[in-house]
Amino acid sequence: MVDEARVARHYGKSGIADRLLAALREVNGADAPVTPDALAPLDHFHGRGVVATEELVAALKPQPHEAVLDIGSGIGGPARWIAAKCGCRVTGVDLTPEFCAAARALIEAAGLAGRVTILDGSALALPVPDAAFDCAYSQNVVMNIEDKLGMYREAFRALKPGGRLALSNLCAGAKGDVRYPVPWAMTAETSFLVTQEAMRADLEAAGFEIVSFRDTTADTLPTVTRNRERLERDGLPRLGVHLLMGETARERQLNSARNMEEGRAATVEALVRKPG
Ligand SMILES: C[S@@+](CC[C@H](N)C(=O)[O-])C[C@H]1O[C@@H](n2cnc3c(N)ncnc32)[C@H](O)[C@@H]1O
Repeated sequence: MVDEARVARHYGKSGIADRLLAALREVNGADAPVTPDALAPLDHFHGRGVVATEELVAALKPQPHEAVLDIGSGIGGPARWIAAKCGCRVTGVDLTPEFCAAARALIEAAGLAGRVTILDGSALALPVPDAAFDCAYSQNVVMNIEDKLGMYREAFRALKPGGRLALSNLCAGAKGDVRYPVPWAMTAETSFLVTQEAMRADLEAAGFEIVSFRDTTADTLPTVTRNRERLERDGLPRLGVHLLMGETARERQLNSARNMEEGRAATVEALVRKPG
């Protein structure tokens, strides 16, 4: 079983919110407002950034009266986006204490306190009551979790009957193991990609009905390649999720793109429902 502390150590760095807000002020000006839109280049920690968040939110369709759970909420980019754009309340849960602290500071800075709450905790033991949420969201998290069935069972428990879960998962490709390091792991020790068939089987074993299940690799590849070429040509932008990754950010982002381009990794978007 993976040591969760090792995953948290991979992501955890001190002073994240201060560093991001300083970068934002430097680029946008000292008095520029801190909004989910302004933060978007920095706080959606997954491939294709806020565009990918918008796609997954469009699949989930959170309604203003709904309670939303974001599992593996990172520094809170998607959670703030959902609260601001859909008008609902969002609870994020994340394993990495430094990410939770940064998420809270950015929620405060964006004036979203009371609308977005962040809880320290594991996706395998969610610190939330049974049947408390109308819908749940998890974007680029499960690749760090070995016990995927355990994660899906916890999401199932947290949802009300009829509740939906939207997932954007990185899955294993057909063309061999991924190249490391990547943004989510420096080595295979904390990376667990499974086939799309295994993902589907785990979701069904947890009790979910599959509403939609889509391999999005072909659709996303042109953007992935464009972003890789820009990174190779121009280097790191002034604002980007590389600010969360430290010195190896460029190499890790390039490997991530190449893994997709070479068929070593695939992206899947799924919407599933708890019966009832
Ligand atoms: C690549 S980041 C994605 C963050 C966020 N979902 C986003 O898209 O901006 C992966 C996140 O998953 C979290 N994570 C990994 N394993 C976890 C677990 N077992 N329970 C909760 N969070 C976990 C990490 O701490 C990290 O914040």
